[in-house]
Amino acid sequence: MTLAPFGRRLAPLVENRRVGAYTLLVAEDPGGPPDPRPGQFYMLATEEGWGAGEGERPHLPRAFSFARAREGRLWFLLEDIGPGTHRLAEMGEGENLWLTGPLGIGFEEPAGRPLLVGGGIGTAPLLCLQDELGPDAKVLLGFRSADHAEAATLFAGESQIATDDGSVGKHALVTELLREELQPGDVVYSCGPPAMLEAVRALAEEHDIPAQLALESGMACGFGACFGCVVPTRNGYIRLCVDGPVVEAADLVPGGVGH
Ligand SMILES: Cc1cc2nc3c(=O)[nH]c(=O)nc-3n(C[C@H](O)[C@H](O)[C@H](O)COP(=O)(O)OP(=O)(O)OC[C@H]3O[C@@H](n4cnc5c(N)ncnc54)[C@H](O)[C@@H]3O)c2cc1C
Ligand code: FES
Repeated sequence: MTLAPFGRRLAPLVENRRVGAYTLLVAEDPGGPPDPRPGQFYMLATEEGWGAGEGERPHLPRAFSFARAREGRLWFLLEDIGPGTHRLAEMGEGENLWLTGPLGIGFEEPAGRPLLVGGGIGTAPLLCLQDELGPDAKVLLGFRSADHAEAATLFAGESQIATDDGSVGKHALVTELLREELQPGDVVYSCGPPAMLEAVRALAEEHDIPAQLALESGMACGFGACFGCVVPTRNGYIRLCVDGPVVEAADLVPGGVGH
């Protein structure tokens, strides 16, 4: 785990570009640690215009996994699904981000053949994990359509792709690719929507394979104060922002991923 510097800091945006259905933001972060762990996250807000309008209250910052950390710059891949992600996606180069992080516990280094399994925007934290493990690490990605599958171009080497509509790769769910690929000695690293992570958890249990899952829940503070992000585990409830977001699949109760 890499610890965040105290307080939030301003980070100038140096790039905003579309990657198919998603938006890639690259920000300078000279004041932050150069070595966040893949799977850790940052709380982001824009310096200007972070709120519903004139005289209205600002939004809370939003949680994002970093997708890449390179040469003092942080990459974030995001999907525009609501007011916060929309404002971030329309940021212009030279605008500033308010940024806190890196927060939470990331992926542990593998003791076996790593299999990286991502779904949709959940591919983001697997990109920096592949940067760390090298291009030979096997990557299985699932997307809704060809437009979303553009995110696979950010990865090194050839990823195996499944799409819901069959427009790219196999017409299947990514968990079908995982079922075909799983071998004894594998370690699964996964991030994606709750239903997909629940299927990955169940497959890992069935094959007795260790799996580390990067979960999501609504996060208001990001540092353990609000208890808004709790998820159930075999050992009781945990706060995902400080005890996760990466959790051992074996610690989760069946069905507990998408609580
Ligand atoms: C640890 C972590 C890492 C994340 N990494 C990324 C990332 O790399 N890229 C990315 O695009 N998004 C990521 N997210 C999700 C991102 O935080 C939300 O999409 C964002 O907060 C939505 O804000 P909004 O104002 O655009 O929409 P809101 O209006 O806040 O939300 C739109 C809809 O999405 C639902 N929603 C919002 N946040 C979550 C959540 N965390 N879990 C489940 N449902 C939610 C809301 O209930 C609502 O229905 C991450 C979340 C967490 C907790
Ligand atoms: S987001 Fe506040 S305790 Fe986790």
